[in-house]
Amino acid sequence: MANSKRNMLPGNQKRIPGHSVWEGEMNRNVLQPSYAPDVPENSPSVGKWFADLVDVALSGNQDAIRHIGSLFAREYRGPDRREVQGRISSAIQRRLVSLNDVRSVSQLPVDEKSRVPLIEEQPWPTMPLLLDEQAGAALSRFVAEAANSKQLSEAGLGSRLNLLLSGPPGTGKTFIAGHIAARLGLPFYTVRLDTVVSSLLGDTAKNIRALFEFASNGPGFLFLDEVDAIAKRRDDQRELGEIKRVVNTLIQGLDLINDKTVIVAATNHAHLLDPAIFRRFPYQIEVSLPELDLREALWRLYLDRAEDCTEAAILSVISKGLSCSDIRELAIAARRTAVLTGSGIDFAGLAWAVIGSREGKLHMPPISNLELETKTLLQKRLRDDYELTFEKIGRLTGVSKQAVIATLRRRRNVDSE
Ligand SMILES: Nc1ncnc2c1ncn2[C@@H]1O[C@H](COP(=O)(O)OP(=O)(O)OP(=O)(O)O)[C@@H](O)[C@H]1O
Ligand SMILES: [Mg+2]
Repeated sequence: MANSKRNMLPGNQKRIPGHSVWEGEMNRNVLQPSYAPDVPENSPSVGKWFADLVDVALSGNQDAIRHIGSLFAREYRGPDRREVQGRISSAIQRRLVSLNDVRSVSQLPVDEKSRVPLIEEQPWPTMPLLLDEQAGAALSRFVAEAANSKQLSEAGLGSRLNLLLSGPPGTGKTFIAGHIAARLGLPFYTVRLDTVVSSLLGDTAKNIRALFEFASNGPGFLFLDEVDAIAKRRDDQRELGEIKRVVNTLIQGLDLINDKTVIVAATNHAHLLDPAIFRRFPYQIEVSLPELDLREALWRLYLDRAEDCTEAAILSVISKGLSCSDIRELAIAARRTAVLTGSGIDFAGLAWAVIGSREGKLHMPPISNLELETKTLLQKRLRDDYELTFEKIGRLTGVSKQAVIATLRRRRNVDSE
């Protein structure tokens, strides 16, 4: 019995029986350019999901409950999909029971003195990942090689499965790591190196050794977030001795890990990384701020407008310089306001927020309609700064093309008086 419960643990690399989500051909999702989860054709019935859920719930295994929950959320395609996904997603992120009380989590490595877990299992992402063609292709390649590492090794073409993700904040590095874990059917074990290093200075090298021991013996996946936390500190003269030891331990760990274990590391500052660490990542993907096409796909995704959405296309023009995460925040804020006010999305308010936002510094959409004066100013800026057509400006601000022309003409007269 104990054994069958253990089989439910993602940490044992066993898939939940009957659920073979990430197998088979890797198709592109309809939301191009993208790299998004596919819906398996022979998805189990709701009854089977329920039976699995009852089984793991009664065994008290919270990791397995989260695991089934996130699989279900991703596969469910009913008309209330958004609500179901949202509810499951917030439920699995809630941690009502102390982590240390959960049996499976107690197997995770901890800092000996503080008993703080060094690794945390995060839920798999439930929303699709959208990437530009280049990053999408690089990611598909990595996942294909990781999924078929045994075959490659047998052909003498094995490689260390270490992937370095670099790019500005909010471009989806953590999200990509979660998708890789999900696609490979592995638990999304995450370690924030900055936490390990800063709070536990002195024992850091020991902790890093424990992380790698854990990774090579069990889960097959480890995500090292903020890996530059170590490289950056190496420049700090005061910490040199300690940091050298830490970097060396990290290098040893990376060298000792078997070639079946997937290590994904993320950094906002790839140039700060120690070259020796850099070299140990044969796979590297640089993600950048989203280009026009990708911004449009992100707007459609997070505004929940799968069909053609003219407003999304226009918003993509004026949101240059914002990150994927910024677009998500703004879109969701606009949808929240729409729910609270009981009307549709206020695109004028959203556009006003977008042009007032800078990467990482967001100006949230207003909860009430824009004042007339602000709306006129918005129309003027959309024309002067973004060279949008009168028709597009009208579309975004909810008036006719003629009304925009008339307003801007009046405004020009006023300005020149
Ligand atoms: N490429 C993307 N496609 C779809 N959604 C995305 C994408 N990138 C980011 N997001 C959304 O933005 C959220 C935040 O992104 P994430 O935390 O992965 O960025 P990050 O690059 O890890 O940022 P940081 O450097 O600050 O850690 C994600 O959880 C996801 O909802
Ligand atoms: Mg991150």
